[in-house]
Amino acid sequence: MSSPRHFLDLDLLQTDELRRILDMGHGYKHPAVAPEAGARPLAGKTLAMVFEKPSTRTRVSFELAMRQLGGDVVVLSAADSQMGRGEPVADTARVLSRYVDAIMMRTTEKAKLDEMAAYASVPVINGLTDLSHPCQIMADLMTLEEYKGGLASQVVAWSGDSNNVATSWIHAAVRFGFELRVASPETLQPADKLVEWARGAGGRVSVVNDPQAAVRGADCVVTDTWVSMGVEASVNRHNMLAPYRVDERLMAEAKPDAIFMHCLPAKRGEEVSAGVIDGPQSVVWDEAENRLHAQKGILAWCLA
Ligand code: CP
Ligand code: NVA
Repeated sequence: MSSPRHFLDLDLLQTDELRRILDMGHGYKHPAVAPEAGARPLAGKTLAMVFEKPSTRTRVSFELAMRQLGGDVVVLSAADSQMGRGEPVADTARVLSRYVDAIMMRTTEKAKLDEMAAYASVPVINGLTDLSHPCQIMADLMTLEEYKGGLASQVVAWSGDSNNVATSWIHAAVRFGFELRVASPETLQPADKLVEWARGAGGRVSVVNDPQAAVRGADCVVTDTWVSMGVEASVNRHNMLAPYRVDERLMAEAKPDAIFMHCLPAKRGEEVSAGVIDGPQSVVWDEAENRLHAQKGILAWCLA
């Protein structure tokens, strides 16, 4: 039996595979352009969604993606499943594999996702861990392409906490060849190992302290919450990140036609000003919509 096609992290997939998934996403969004994408390729298939952290977008967009492609879903939250009482992930993986055709998991430690993938006999999709959020970045890449065209010529600036979303941006920069400048306070910068991997793989990824330097001349400015799920909020953290807030002044350093992205949920007045996220350069609603289309691409790639 061949091993299932997991979607675990962007660094684990080749560029041509990611390209195919993105193209399918664009095709599903515009069925008139790519009519073959309008079919219901997942008829008879079921996705289990396992949530150990809250979600709005991931939950709704995966459920609708599955249904619109002809399939079905089952949702489990840790709190009301036996996982919450300590049933091993490995056992859950083997049981779910007897019922469903794919598993999407949102969890804390990456090790749990890896355990799910190791023991499942069906594809496992990473719906976010403490370390990465690849489905989000597939939607972000779709959005970047819609607004700016070819990815390789783009300059993307990240300003804020180098969290799970930033990690998947780093993976994507390597796979698609765009320049990524990450600005974070010293203690919240990406792990050395990750940056070394990116550079070793030929990625144009830089890490700086100065948000202005990162954003200067960028085509796209991205940020995310200062307090990710599972992270403790503190005055110190807030003060450290305050200079990285994407406000009108910082945004003015980017190209005049630069776009602003945020995976959401956002806190206006913390990582982004209301003027920027609700302003003319913000594409966050398209970005959120594209979760649906990009994940259809992911599901079709894993399952069809
Ligand atoms: N961006 C994102 O993953 O949102 P949710 O936490 O609402 O799923
Ligand atoms: N970095 C955020 C992303 C939420 C979608 C978190 O992990 O909470």
